[in-house]
This record gives sequence, C-alpha cells and structure tokens, in this order.
Amino acid sequence: MAGQKKLLRALAGEVLETPPIWMMRQAGRYLPEYRATREKAGDFLSLCYNPELAAEVTLQPIRRYGFDAAILFADILLVPQALGADLWFVTGEGPRLSTVTQQADFDALKPADAIHDKLAPVYETLRILKGELPQDTTLIGFAGAPWTVATYMIAGRGTPAQEPAHALREGNVALFEALLDRITKATITYLSAQIEAGAEVVKIFDSWAGSLKGAAFDKYAMEPAREITAALKAKHPDIPVIGFPRGAGEKYAGFAKATGVDCVALDQSIDADWAAANVQPNGCVQGNLSPEHMVTGGQALVDETRRIVKAFSKGPHIFNLGHGITPDADPENVQLMVDTVRGAARG
Ligand code: CP3
Repeated sequence: MAGQKKLLRALAGEVLETPPIWMMRQAGRYLPEYRATREKAGDFLSLCYNPELAAEVTLQPIRRYGFDAAILFADILLVPQALGADLWFVTGEGPRLSTVTQQADFDALKPADAIHDKLAPVYETLRILKGELPQDTTLIGFAGAPWTVATYMIAGRGTPAQEPAHALREGNVALFEALLDRITKATITYLSAQIEAGAEVVKIFDSWAGSLKGAAFDKYAMEPAREITAALKAKHPDIPVIGFPRGAGEKYAGFAKATGVDCVALDQSIDADWAAANVQPNGCVQGNLSPEHMVTGGQALVDETRRIVKAFSKGPHIFNLGHGITPDADPENVQLMVDTVRGAARG
C-alpha cells in the first residue's frame, strides 16, 4: 500500500527508527552514468524533454543507492519556457532566459493554463517512472517557487543577490506582482498535472527565499507557497507538499504553519538542534547535511550525518542534504552517507 512507503510515513508525521533518505540533485553530473545519458540526449534541455531518457536518469541514483524517493528529472526553468520565455543553458555558466522587465514583456507571456503543450513530456516521464520504480520508492514531483522562478525571468540568468528582481519589485510593484501571480497560477496547474501523472509528493524549491527579508518574505515567499499548497490540497488532499525556503533563517520556524506545507526542507546553515526545537514541532523536517561532505567525505561526513540523525530523532525527519549535490562530489561519499544513515557504517 502506498501509505506504507517510508517517505510517506515520515511526511504523515511518523517517527521512524531510521529516517528515509534521498538527495537533492541526486541525478546529476557527479554520476558517470548521468553524464553518459546526457551525452546521448545531446544537451541538458533535450534530456529534460526526452521522457525515456529523463526517466532513465531519475532511476540511476535509485539503482545505485536505493534511495527512499526518486525526484522527477526536469528543471524549475521549464515553467518560464512553457510561459513563452526563451531558455538556453551556457555550458559551465548556467541558464539564460529572455527577460521580463517591462509591461510589454509580460503581455507577451502565455496564460497559465497554456503550459501543458510544452510540458507534456514531463508528465510522460512521471507516467513511465510510476511503472518502473521499486514499490517502496516514493515519486516526488517539483516546481520552483514563484519568487525564485521570477528572479531568473527578470534577470535572464542566475544572479548573486537577485538585484534585478528586487529592483523590479521596488520600481514597478504592479508588474512584479502580476508576474508572480502568473507563475503561481502556472505552478498550481503544473503541479496538479504532475500529481495526475503519478507524483506522490510535490516539492516547491524557493532557492532564493533568503534574499527576501521581513514583510517581503511573508508576502513573496510565504504567501505564494500558501496559495499553491491550498490549491493543491483542495484538489489532491492526500498529496504531501514539501516547502524549501532556502536561506529563510529564523523564518523557518513559522513556515509550515503559515503555508500549510507538510514538511519544511532545511538548508545547511540551520542548526539541527535549533530546528528540532523550533521547526519540527510543526511537522516533518527534511535535511540538512552540507553538500560539501559529498566532496570531502571521511570521518567528518560520518560524524555530521550521525549528529543530524540524532538531533531530529524525536520527530518526523527525512534525511537529505541542505542543497543540491555538486558535480565534483565523489559517488563513494554518497554511499557512506546512506550507510551511515541506515546504521550500517562501521567506525
Ligand atoms: O534534484 C534532482 O535530481 C532533480 C532534478 C533537478 C534539476 N534542477 C536538474 C538540473 C531539480 C529539482 C532542479 C531544481 C533547480 N533548477 C533549482 C532549485 C534547486 C536549487 O538547486 O537551488 C534551480 C535554481 C534550478 C535552475 C538551474 N538548473 C540552474 C541555476 C542550473 C545551472 C547550475 C548547475 O547546477 O549547472 C541548472 C541546471 C541543472 N538542473 C542541472 C541538473 C542536473 C545541471 C545541468 C547539466 O547536466 O549540465
């Protein structure tokens, strides 16, 4: 029965003997088999839109490590592309998009419900995975949070402190809020379709939430997450939602209550003991080993993994990294983390 999968039990609030484990960016360049499949696809975006190959790279880390969850292979920037933005990736640099900085740019975007044509291959990837995953592995769908997606749409690229997005929200709040609302509606549509195609959990990635402070955080990180979660729960009440307001700091404490998410993903800047006292009482937490340990390994990895497992042992917890694994990580270190969490590592 689906309800017996470890990840779903933790999300429902159960305290398990060992936490379920998966890893952000678990399908990625640190794995030779990922690099080989990406090569076969041609490039990253072709891989995202090729359901057979996207399903294959989603399954690779499951085969290798037996993670408790598989996360759909796609990207948060497929939504802007489905809304009509140009999108391409520059090797070694990252994403580039056509920008939305003026009313005319916004007016050229498609309506939120017009995204399915472009995103149909993503739903197909989920349908393939549903048939191929081991029966105890949970399938996670995802989307970017409106603020994070907007930062890329406004700047046309990743930016260190999201200055162009902050400039628009200060200089033309009506346009900024219209854009955020369009992304919010598209995200609800997109995640609903992912659930209908087989996603058992959805995660909302707000990678740049930390650059919103005070009331701006409440309005542009919490409120869209609340709106998306409420809309999804109205249609799919049994599907858990994970929120990841990366960099939220002390705002992590009220996040689950304010938004209705079932689980809050913690970045590695958050002290596990603090989060056990201040975040975990409101529901499941996920995290939060520094991805650095996947590069450096050794006893420090083991010690820190055990410390995090112990700190969260009195409440519902999903073990994960505090952010995505990096391309320079050593696959052996991932195995060491998995063994340590599952109690099999010596020393
Ligand atoms: O976690 C997974 O394994 C699922 C797939 C996934 C990817 N991106 C694949 C990917 C997920 C969940 C994402 C989310 C994503 N994408 C976020 C939010 C999470 C985070 O990391 O903060 C963001 C901000 C993006 C946008 C994005 N995609 C950037 C900035 C980049 C370039 C930086 C980089 O790591 O290269 C990407 C590319 C990307 N997305 C890769 C992968 C595996 C690497 C592309 C490649 O293979 O060359």
